[in-house]
Amino acid sequence: MDFYEVLGKRVSTRKFSDEKVSDKDIEKLIDAANKAPIGMGTYDECRLTVIRDKSFIEEISKEYMEKMDKKSDPLFGAPLLIIFSSSKENDLRFQDAGCVLENISLAATSLNLGSCYIRGTFHNLGKDGAYIEKLNLDDGFSPVAGIVIGHPESKLVGKDHIIPTNFI
Ligand SMILES: Cc1cc2nc3c(=O)[nH]c(=O)nc-3n(C[C@H](O)[C@H](O)[C@H](O)COP(=O)(O)O)c2cc1C
Repeated sequence: MDFYEVLGKRVSTRKFSDEKVSDKDIEKLIDAANKAPIGMGTYDECRLTVIRDKSFIEEISKEYMEKMDKKSDPLFGAPLLIIFSSSKENDLRFQDAGCVLENISLAATSLNLGSCYIRGTFHNLGKDGAYIEKLNLDDGFSPVAGIVIGHPESKLVGKDHIIPTNFI
């Protein structure tokens, strides 16, 4: 898919079919993540966790829903979740997450996969979420944000957004 077609089709997907994401596609998503820029070039201060086990994804959703007293699934029943973790304590970790997760999102779009950036779940569960132990992160790392990915229930159709822009 042409780059501008990818940009035009990227959209947050919150309804997924049951079809799994293939290992070959997951490899491409991780390759895209590795091509992202990172503040100060500190790739060693970043970690990715690929979760293909749907029951674990559901467990994270449940933990969030119970803690926040919410009824709707924040991870939308997706078959794949990639979590970005960092050992940084400053706000660079959020910017790193944005770059990495957007690269994954664009790669997903080019593969006709749906994706949605997820901040709320990880922010609200914080550094003490029970699920974190199962991520097997190295000491000092904690989740920053994630992205859910899967085959979209309907075809990807991008949206028109306008960021007010001042030309000087
Ligand atoms: C930093 C960031 C955090 C986001 N967090 C969430 C989230 O926790 N849950 C969610 O459903 N969507 C989340 N989104 C998706 C946005 O709501 C979405 O990108 C925005 O409304 C524009 O819609 P579009 O992606 O369909 O073009 C997030 C997006 C960004 C960039």
